[in-house]
Amino acid sequence: MAAVTLDIGGLARLDQVLVGLLAPDALPGVDGDSLLDEEGTPVARREGGEVIGLRASRWPRPEEVRTDAPVVVAIAEELPLQPLPREARLLLPAGGVRSDDDRYRAWAGVWRAAASDVLEVPLTPKEAVDRAPELAHLYSTGMLVAVATSPQPPNGGRTVFLTGFSGSGKSTIARALVDVLAGRRSVTLLDGDVVRTHLSRGLGFSREDRDINIRRIGWVAAEVTKHGGVAVCAPIAPYDETRRWVRELVEAAGGPGAFVLVWISTPLEECERRDVKGLYAKARAGEITGFTGIDDPYEEPTDAELVIDTTDVSVDEAVERILAFIGT
Ligand code: ADX
Repeated sequence: MAAVTLDIGGLARLDQVLVGLLAPDALPGVDGDSLLDEEGTPVARREGGEVIGLRASRWPRPEEVRTDAPVVVAIAEELPLQPLPREARLLLPAGGVRSDDDRYRAWAGVWRAAASDVLEVPLTPKEAVDRAPELAHLYSTGMLVAVATSPQPPNGGRTVFLTGFSGSGKSTIARALVDVLAGRRSVTLLDGDVVRTHLSRGLGFSREDRDINIRRIGWVAAEVTKHGGVAVCAPIAPYDETRRWVRELVEAAGGPGAFVLVWISTPLEECERRDVKGLYAKARAGEITGFTGIDDPYEEPTDAELVIDTTDVSVDEAVERILAFIGT
């Protein structure tokens, strides 16, 4: 007897196995094994070639709910462009959807209004589309009907993420951008220095602390984006991997294009010449160690949507370029 831990994908497959959409051999382990979730809670066990679920399932087995209605397989993120057949049974893929995913709930609401019989199925949208005829057959004796759809218009949520050296002009541009947007949009400023006095108070400048700082900023920005707002962030964010992590999080919340990376590429010499806060002088004198650009790395972005060097671009022009890019 052994215990096998399932990751998120494994748990999604377990749901499918338990309702009979996948064979038990889609899961790891052998007879006698316990299957655990990532917190170590037993969720199923293997016995006699079967997988037995140990908690109540929100997904009904197809044979328990079979009808003879025509079947539509929808993807929540697309809008129906035509009415659904009367009495149609709608299969909505909800596998892997987090319970606090407001966007899914909003989209599903549109579909629920269009059909009287909606069944969520434990598949991802792609799996459901790939297996649509088979699913229709499992959940109904009726015909599979195609419905024209269009992608949901994005809700306009964005994250403008400015990265660059201390003194490069990030905060000044960020504040000017926020001033312009404030009259038109719901906008949230997450400036590096300000974040460090609140959200990230107590964090230092080790790689680990910088990562935590940026991930916190990213998490807040993704929430703002998800709800249709504009988040303007202005930390140094020296690490490529962490910036990409934020990009993924924001795009998951707001769709492709929701994350706009703006590299304020003002060279170190210029930032040091300005030395607005006097910190470069201190870093050179050895009074501050681990200062970005002096004795700590800055990984130049290779994935920036915009690159702005404030040596020869004014604040107003920088703001104009960003506004032109995001189309607001
Ligand atoms: S980040 O690396 O975690 O993104 P963040 O933008 O929050 O940095 O903070 C940078 C600001 O902290 C700088 O503008 C500067 O005023 C101050 N600071 C203090 N110590 C350091 C340091 N060792 N490296 C960089 N900035 C520092």
